[in-house]
Amino acid sequence: MQPRRFLPTGALKGELRVPGDKSISHRSIMLGALAVGETRVTGLLEGEDVLATAAAMRAMGATVLRQAQDDRGNAEWRIHGVGVGALLRPQAPLDMGNSGTSTRLLMGLVATHAIETRFFGDASLSKRPMGRVIEPLSQMGAAFEASEGGKLPLTVRGANPAVPIEYRLPVASAQVKSAVLLAGLNTPGITTVIEPVPTRDHSERMLRGFGAELDVEELDGATGLERVIRIRGEAELRPQVIDVPGDPSSAAFFIVAALVVPGSELLIRNVGLNPTRAGLVQVLRAMGGDIAEVNPRKVGDEPVADLLVRHSMLQGIDVDPAVAPSMIDEFPVLFVAAALAQGTTVTRGLDELRVKESDRLSAMAAALTAVGARVRETEDGLTIEGTGGEPLNGGGPIATHLDHRIAMSMAVAGLVSRDGVEVDDTRPIATSFPVFEALLDGLGSA
Ligand code: S3P
Repeated sequence: MQPRRFLPTGALKGELRVPGDKSISHRSIMLGALAVGETRVTGLLEGEDVLATAAAMRAMGATVLRQAQDDRGNAEWRIHGVGVGALLRPQAPLDMGNSGTSTRLLMGLVATHAIETRFFGDASLSKRPMGRVIEPLSQMGAAFEASEGGKLPLTVRGANPAVPIEYRLPVASAQVKSAVLLAGLNTPGITTVIEPVPTRDHSERMLRGFGAELDVEELDGATGLERVIRIRGEAELRPQVIDVPGDPSSAAFFIVAALVVPGSELLIRNVGLNPTRAGLVQVLRAMGGDIAEVNPRKVGDEPVADLLVRHSMLQGIDVDPAVAPSMIDEFPVLFVAAALAQGTTVTRGLDELRVKESDRLSAMAAALTAVGARVRETEDGLTIEGTGGEPLNGGGPIATHLDHRIAMSMAVAGLVSRDGVEVDDTRPIATSFPVFEALLDGLGSA
């Protein structure tokens, strides 16, 4: 364990760049490893989760190399792929660490290759449900031997040839959608995923970029627009040059920090603003947050801007559950913003938060209560009575349950507290945002 107390700080001023997007980084390596030829990637997130994906793709035959950094500290990654259909059976079980995205997407990839693959992970990942991917991948012909309750460790025996399916997502999950689409890459014919609620679409954008035949149709469904995504296998992917935009889920901690620490003004450069990810910015603006988009542009196929964020007196709101998929990883830090806002914030429809790296509803309810916030946990959300800008008491140690986002959210809470907030373990932060503490310390907090 590596505990740390995050102390109150003066105004946060200046500018920073957050590391590359985790979702896009995973997908760059996976698709690069399936394209014949050299894919080059800059801005890749070098967090533990993405490195687990890189190690897995190497174990299945791809070459994944980190080239020396340039003078700005940016490394270029070079990936030589094996071609769709040519993944090798790994010699040893694949260690997924803490990473749900690596696990679920790779299960999709190997499900339609004629190989047997075993996956295992840390204590947090071993509690997470894999049945949601086992179900559609079994329909495609893959066989699974999972631990009780459809959990890790598990073994996948891939089907080749696999059967194309039409699958309607029972949960709003980009990981499940992506697992089926990646399985579809090596399946003859057309694999279809129907998405009743839109989730992040990085897989669709990147699969197209790599030359896969993929189309998306929007239809009127029972609960609004449904997306019908079709991919044609057996695909041939062409290597790409990819620049990974900054991760909005990492920027989130600094956006909220600048909003809640009096006197702050931060310029956060190069933040990915794909509409399927930008829910937090929308909600914070509705709470009165001053967040300006500067220099909007495209990086590859992804919208990006710099965000200028100024301290604001936030007002509690009733958060529309429909926005949840576009800010699913940002609720822990939104709860911190709500705890310091004026009035009550109500969130609902967040059952999915209970099956993330931790049960984020109960972990954040306990953490915020421990530092003096007024929080009520319901079945599918939190109701939070804000302090109106008054600092929280502080305290701890806060149990982070191997969850990077609980650790970083409570670090932000510490910035507006009387005594600071101690988190029990900062090590999980390295899964998604290894330079978080260095960036925060560089802005004047200690
Ligand atoms: C991700 C999808 C989301 C998100 C995770 C990354 C992805 O998970 O929470 O951090 O890269 O596809 P779900 O698909 O479980 O919602």
